[in-house]
Amino acid sequence: MTVHFIGAGPGAPDLLTLRGRDLIAGSPVCLYAGSLIPAAVLDHCPPGARTVNTAPLELDEIIAEMAAAHAAGQDVARLHSGDLSVWSAMGEQLRRLRAMDIPFTITPGVPAFAAAAAALEAELTLPELTQSLVLTRTPGRASTMPPAESLTNFAVTGATLAIHLSIHNLARVVADLTPAYGADCPVAVIWRASWSDQRVVRATLETIERAVADSMERTALILVGRVLAVQDFAESSLYAPGYDRRFRPQDASSRFSAAPE
Ligand SMILES: C[S@@+](CC[C@H](N)C(=O)[O-])C[C@H]1O[C@@H](n2cnc3c(N)ncnc32)[C@H](O)[C@@H]1O
Repeated sequence: MTVHFIGAGPGAPDLLTLRGRDLIAGSPVCLYAGSLIPAAVLDHCPPGARTVNTAPLELDEIIAEMAAAHAAGQDVARLHSGDLSVWSAMGEQLRRLRAMDIPFTITPGVPAFAAAAAALEAELTLPELTQSLVLTRTPGRASTMPPAESLTNFAVTGATLAIHLSIHNLARVVADLTPAYGADCPVAVIWRASWSDQRVVRATLETIERAVADSMERTALILVGRVLAVQDFAESSLYAPGYDRRFRPQDASSRFSAAPE
């Protein structure tokens, strides 16, 4: 018996990995994290599977579900939205399972920031402009932020920011970022990226609050950075003529000409 942690993706049912789909189909128990998991993903469960929405449960109750399945010799598919490596609460579940000697596997999923970037048709790192993406959030009712991880500190870098769990803090995001990024810095808010009711608002730090108005529903990502609106960026060396590289040696004298496969 194994608990399979599966990143269920950002919302579109066909953004689930094939591995995730097959593990769900082979597990008689499915624990899923609330409304961010589309019903069509649960359709992959085998007939008669026990499906449990864990949104209203406490950690002990979730672990009890896993322990009961373990005792019955039944695999569990444990679904979280997006990928499991960020804001999934997987860490605390793994710690309990390790202590109980219950085996588990981890299958990554498409994260929300990637679906949001796709909705914007944007590459979030561009040559010479921005080479870093910061995945972050602002403090919430249940979560404080480590003091050094403030938006004002991240702003010093000028990196592209993907700000999660923060649409209700938009005014603070704008106030913290405007001094470093400038009032004309592009911002986009993407609600329910990849769902059929996906919505995108593009603006600047100066205009985003007015543009968003009272659309404060929670499942939204705020992307901030010059990459969102620039067109005159440099091309990468990777495909440039004359750039000597392992897969495209320029001539016989290239240090890559005799490189092993
Ligand atoms: C608890 S976090 C989960 C993040 C997830 N593990 C991931 O890999 O993206 C939930 C937050 O992620 C963002 N989010 C998740 N799915 C989203 C989507 N489809 N569109 C926009 N934002 C999304 C929102 O900021 C939301 O408040």
